[in-house]
Amino acid sequence: MKLNFIDLKRQYDRYKTDIDSGIAEVLESAQFILGNKVAELEKQLAAYAGVRFGIGVSSGTDALLLGLMAYGVKSGDEIICPPFTFIATAEVIALLGARPVFVDIDERTYNIDPALIEDRITERTRGIIPVGLYGQVADMDAICTIAKRRGLFVIEDGCQSFGATYRGRRSCGLPDMGVTSFFPSKPLGGYGDGGMVFTDDEEMAKMIYSLHLHGEEKRYQHKYIGINGRIDAIQAAILLAKFKYLEDEIKLRQQKGSYYTDGLKDVVVTPYVEPHNTSVYAQYSIMADRRDALSKYLNEHGVPTAIHYPRPLHLQEAFNYLGYKEGDFPVSEKTSNGILSLPMSPFITQDEQGYVIGKVREFYSQGIR
Ligand SMILES: Cc1ncc(COP(=O)(O)O)c(C=O)c1O
Repeated sequence: MKLNFIDLKRQYDRYKTDIDSGIAEVLESAQFILGNKVAELEKQLAAYAGVRFGIGVSSGTDALLLGLMAYGVKSGDEIICPPFTFIATAEVIALLGARPVFVDIDERTYNIDPALIEDRITERTRGIIPVGLYGQVADMDAICTIAKRRGLFVIEDGCQSFGATYRGRRSCGLPDMGVTSFFPSKPLGGYGDGGMVFTDDEEMAKMIYSLHLHGEEKRYQHKYIGINGRIDAIQAAILLAKFKYLEDEIKLRQQKGSYYTDGLKDVVVTPYVEPHNTSVYAQYSIMADRRDALSKYLNEHGVPTAIHYPRPLHLQEAFNYLGYKEGDFPVSEKTSNGILSLPMSPFITQDEQGYVIGKVREFYSQGIR
């Protein structure tokens, strides 16, 4: 058997009529920038996340950047985030001249450990960016309680967790601000780059809106230094067509997640989802002994795998200047050495999953090195 890591073609085949007609409408209208599709997407997704405002932007990275810009983050400020995440989370902090201050993750959820946050807060700390890794929201109540007590903002990096719930509330609608990504492989993915910033705060929403249009207040009148951070109308049309199926897809992802877990839990560490959470399984990631050998074995047998992420951010060359060293964040380091993502999509079949499970079990039962 030969599998795909994420099968985006199967998804397109299912929604082809809706997607093609959405794209055709944009082409016919010749409204390529902003316009109805973008406004409609913003309205629908903000309502889904449970907040009043959504601003469609050019990527998850730009969504994070715009969030920090809206809070006026500048050189000398410190922002707390986990070192075990995609680089964008910390990169945007550094881009603004501020300092990413890493806090290790929880061993079971792989999300920032709230118990370790307070120790890292200084008089320069301005905010916290928790990440909902692999599709499960971080412990937002604990994080927001600390933030409130210490006068910090919280931006939820929901690039992997859009659609997940935390104590019955949706990711991206939890703290002061939430952001997500529409990178094609995300739970709600477009066919290119895109993202969204969510907030309930009208002033912040206006600020983000302005910042994503070069800081414009009115046409060609620029109040702030901003960026070109818009989402394309064609992406918005694709996302609107796909959003109709998001809840169904999330249920499928959860079923596929449980199926893997049932088949693998006695041989590897399977994902742990807190009882008060639901996960959207942006990735299905296991902790595995002899991870690299297992990955090689699976690849040789037609099962593609990925490592999210092989090196935590404090050990990345780009962040050498921060002065961290090996051993500083032991849970992140241990997780980087053992984590392995298996093929996952709402449309992976039971046969395919059975094949993957069989190959993982075979690897361990035969003691392959
Ligand atoms: C946790 C996290 N943050 C930020 C991003 C950046 O999103 P984008 O690729 O849309 O810029 C991603 C996407 O890969 C992500 O997984």
